[in-house]
Amino acid sequence: MRVLVLGASSVVGKALAEAFAPGNSLVLAGRDPGRLAAAEDACRRAGAVDAARVSADLSSGARPVIEAVGGLQIDLLIDAASAASGMRDTEIEPSRLPGLVAADFLSKVELLEHLLAAQRAAPAVILVSSVLAVVQSPGRSAYSSLKRLSELYLQRVRESRAGFRLLVVRVGTVIDTEKGSDKARKLAGAVSRAYAGDRKVLLFGLEGRLFVGLFYLQPLVFRAVAHLQRTLRGVRAGRR
Ligand SMILES: NC(=O)c1ccc[n+]([C@@H]2O[C@H](COP(=O)([O-])OP(=O)(O)OC[C@H]3O[C@@H](n4cnc5c(N)ncnc54)[C@H](OP(=O)(O)O)[C@@H]3O)[C@@H](O)[C@H]2O)c1
Repeated sequence: MRVLVLGASSVVGKALAEAFAPGNSLVLAGRDPGRLAAAEDACRRAGAVDAARVSADLSSGARPVIEAVGGLQIDLLIDAASAASGMRDTEIEPSRLPGLVAADFLSKVELLEHLLAAQRAAPAVILVSSVLAVVQSPGRSAYSSLKRLSELYLQRVRESRAGFRLLVVRVGTVIDTEKGSDKARKLAGAVSRAYAGDRKVLLFGLEGRLFVGLFYLQPLVFRAVAHLQRTLRGVRAGRR
């Protein structure tokens, strides 16, 4: 199959590209040409049949990626690109927000809509999302909202198209992108197993599981405390 990887120049994107390389053709997209070249080498070593690179800034739209794909059939789109990745809300100047929305949402919609219209069969999609798309984390509204919106868009596409295959990967751990970490390789292994098993959602990382558990527990605890308070008030009123 032919696999298009957005964000192939990232640690996570490169690990995913390598995991899907054996026996497949890859199109690797990102911005940094040096890191893309390193990803291409790694994919070839991992057994890719072919690997092409496209260096493009998605904040200006998906056109260069669409042109690089040309008329080729993309069977799997892996989206690991994120312009807002690692950014705190306070670091984002208001004038930067439209560029982030373009890079992390609009250009990806443009790309997928092009593939859906141009291809004889829809590509499967693996979205590298975050546990922050589900739980709210202080100071990460821009990042969380963009991940949540991407998930929502793809889930709506799945609901509207029979047979559209989507795996949402919610990363719930910190993967060190500076040092290069074994976690990225483990994540890639978990993703390829989840994809082979036709899973719809993969939650990766123990911290993420705890966060999600606490997030869903919190309204239950709130309800239990409110109920207890009301009961105690009733008991006290009965004594008077
Ligand atoms: N690391 C973690 O702990 C963690 C946790 C949860 C989720 N994730 C997700 O995993 C994915 C990969 O993240 P990472 O941490 O490995 O690396 P990262 O440093 O966040 O890399 C982001 C990737 O997106 C690309 N990108 C950024 N802005 C872009 C733009 N305007 N146009 C096109 N491409 C752009 C980068 O390309 P260049 O490098 O070439 O600029 C890079 O390939 C992201 O979606 C991130 O949200 C990571």
